[in-house]
Amino acid sequence: MSMSTSSSTSLVIGIPKETGSGETRVAVSPEAVKKLVKRGFRVWIEKSAGTKAGFPDEDFQMEGVEMVDAKTAFSAQIVAKILKPSFDEIGQMKKGSVLVSLIEPYKLDGTFEKLAQAGVEAFGMELIPRTSRAQAMDVLSSQAGIAGYRAVLEASTRYGRFFPLMMTSAGSAKPAKVMILGAGVAGLQAIATAKKLGALVEAYDVRAEVKEQIQSLGAKFVELDVGEEGSGTGGYAKELSEEGKKKQQALLTERLKKSDIIISTANIPGRKAPVLITEEAVKGMRAGSVIVDMAAANGGNCPLSVADQVVVKHGVVFIGFTKYPAMVPADASNFYGHNVINLMDLIVQKKDGAQSLNLNLEDDIIAAALVTHSGDIRFKKK
Ligand SMILES: NC(=O)c1ccc[n+]([C@@H]2O[C@H](COP(=O)([O-])OP(=O)(O)OC[C@H]3O[C@@H](n4cnc5c(N)ncnc54)[C@H](O)[C@@H]3O)[C@@H](O)[C@H]2O)c1
Repeated sequence: MSMSTSSSTSLVIGIPKETGSGETRVAVSPEAVKKLVKRGFRVWIEKSAGTKAGFPDEDFQMEGVEMVDAKTAFSAQIVAKILKPSFDEIGQMKKGSVLVSLIEPYKLDGTFEKLAQAGVEAFGMELIPRTSRAQAMDVLSSQAGIAGYRAVLEASTRYGRFFPLMMTSAGSAKPAKVMILGAGVAGLQAIATAKKLGALVEAYDVRAEVKEQIQSLGAKFVELDVGEEGSGTGGYAKELSEEGKKKQQALLTERLKKSDIIISTANIPGRKAPVLITEEAVKGMRAGSVIVDMAAANGGNCPLSVADQVVVKHGVVFIGFTKYPAMVPADASNFYGHNVINLMDLIVQKKDGAQSLNLNLEDDIIAAALVTHSGDIRFKKK
């Protein structure tokens, strides 16, 4: 089944300014806009939408682009955003228009109902499948890589010692021992970044298949026998049994006491993050050690970390930031913008020079990510 709408020669993409607290990104960069215009789109960008990301309005000004107010941006045929729109903003969208944004599918706050009522064709960018074909549209990957990089830098600036081995005439410093928990997209980038800084890096994941990836980055793979298989579907981890969790915590506690820095990234989609760092492990760490709990928004991998705060407990610094990509807004926006372009290449067709929407529900990427369609909610919680 395919839905095509014909229009004038160009489709219009509206880019509103993000209004969420702490959000500094914008859904496109000037480089991404240039590519959209080249493909034949007209782009309406809300004034000052890119300012916080380091893109002044002048950088967006080119043929095919108009700087507009928020209302106009939301009235476009396609609206591209980072954070999901508010009810008010959804109310400003046109029936049959397309929304491309994060959608927080597991937060049941009425957004799906509102989108369906408004007749919006909404894509939830975090629902793009984790497949090779979809990789170029995968914002979870593009943004998690940035987060993994930034998390290591945050740890390094709060650690009162060096990451690399330093031998000077004024004495020497040993390299930091960095443990990465969870070697998904963020974890692998954290390994690479910590290695570049000269640390001794080891990493653990409940999915044994990541061993090779960890080793190929020059880190040591920590093997723990938790007595069960941790791989779930779609490349993600599954939740361990209560017994498995206890075993994992006990085995990890002894290892973690020896770490100077822990970057923990372990998540299970749609569930509370697993507890991997016990209070006992924290108490056993040297004072001045640093734990970056990248799962803090999702309950945390350590019960002592606090979302969006830096706190010190048992002499250990806990970093609980939850918006790492917004701390690297120019590159994060540029990557997000390219993810949007690649999705446009999938859902927009060009015939005799005229662009039109082509929402082919038999395409696996569209089928997975389109959460509302023709007034109905398509998303089903697994
Ligand atoms: N396009 C693609 O093909 C593509 C893109 C991105 C990711 N993926 C796959 O998805 C995987 C996970 O991606 P993600 O980074 O979004 O994952 P995520 O953010 O959901 O989780 C981060 C990591 O935590 C690990 N984890 C969960 N529970 C754990 C526990 N109890 N103990 C230790 N580790 C635990 C997971 O195995 C995962 O590696 C990737 O490694 C890859 O296999 C594929």
